[in-house]
Amino acid sequence: MTAVLFVDDDANILNGLRRMLRSMRNECDVLFADSGAAALKIFSESTIDVLITDLRMPAMDGVKLLEEVSRKYPGTVRIILSGYADREISLRTIGLAHQFLSKPCDDAFLKNALRRAITQHHLASAPDLQKVVSQLHTLPSLPDLYYQIVSELNNPNASSRRVGEIVSRDMSMTARVLQLVNSSFFGIPTRVVDPVQATTMLGLETVRDLALSLHIFSQFNETLLAEMQLDTLWEHVLRVGAVTKMILKDLNMPPKRREAGFILGLLHDLGKLILAQNMSGPYQRVLEKSRSEGIPLHILEKDVFGASHSDIGAYLFGIWGLDEVVMIATAYHHEPRFYVGDYQYELAAVHIANSLVTEFERDKGVAAVDLPVDMDYLTNLGLAVQFETWRQSAWKLLKEGVKYA
Ligand SMILES: [Fe+2]
Ligand SMILES: [Fe+2]
Repeated sequence: MTAVLFVDDDANILNGLRRMLRSMRNECDVLFADSGAAALKIFSESTIDVLITDLRMPAMDGVKLLEEVSRKYPGTVRIILSGYADREISLRTIGLAHQFLSKPCDDAFLKNALRRAITQHHLASAPDLQKVVSQLHTLPSLPDLYYQIVSELNNPNASSRRVGEIVSRDMSMTARVLQLVNSSFFGIPTRVVDPVQATTMLGLETVRDLALSLHIFSQFNETLLAEMQLDTLWEHVLRVGAVTKMILKDLNMPPKRREAGFILGLLHDLGKLILAQNMSGPYQRVLEKSRSEGIPLHILEKDVFGASHSDIGAYLFGIWGLDEVVMIATAYHHEPRFYVGDYQYELAAVHIANSLVTEFERDKGVAAVDLPVDMDYLTNLGLAVQFETWRQSAWKLLKEGVKYA
């Protein structure tokens, strides 16, 4: 079972956490320490998978503790839980911590964060993945803008107006967000002219995720990725996002989860960019072999690098503290049958969308390997009967041209 260690010098807070987390007894072992020194003693005696620490503590503060842990126990997921007033310090410890949470935070929020950390730990524990990740020299960083939005979302009084204002401080991000929001993907009847309006219409989380996806794609150097054909990949992920959203809508998912489905599509193949950027020579050979021999990329990647683009993308999303559903949809989009958990519909939607979009793109002459849907998996979920209808509506949607110029 995953072992979680909470560190805080305030006994009241530790007692509160102890009560709050009693209901998670079956999901993780929770330990507590009231100082940095006590925490390190626990680390020396047992394996800790997730560390959640306060920043302001006498003697050894949280930053010192995080430094020690990241050096000695790099496999531990590191999370900061600190007062809202400390968010400036939190922002400076980005490299040391995988995520930061603001105190006070409510029950559901903390439990969610903890579940996410547990998932991240599970996904990242494959020894091969660790090996691949340690060889990567450039992992894209998260934009400052993203942290500012997350920090605003952690504020109990978070508002669309403030999130919109944060986005509008970055001109190029504003332009890209508006361009995408006004494209046919979102189907908003009126023309959206400023980020505040966009945030009000789409919700804070969607704007946060959009800023993230757009930033990730803009970070990659197009000339380096010639073989990867960045444009083709961007079109692919936009299409997968649109079809995912369509399927979730047909499944009567609430609007927020549908919009989130679009983002799942945008992010599902991020690992390809990471591999292309970091292993350009070998990855080019993998791409060529995949095309010439008709072997799906994720299978060849596993053979050659020990981990596939889905493993690597999910790992990175975990480090960035993105929602668990993003990690799950990315990690399992090729092999959904291995996933057991609450996000089956989102995962199924991305899996189906990826397959249908690939079929469509092959028809249009894009060199891609066929990725058939896992029909047994759909049958188990009770979704097999709808597949043919989705196939037809997806083709209609794609033919009409979900285009983002
Ligand atoms: Fe993929
Ligand atoms: Fe894909």
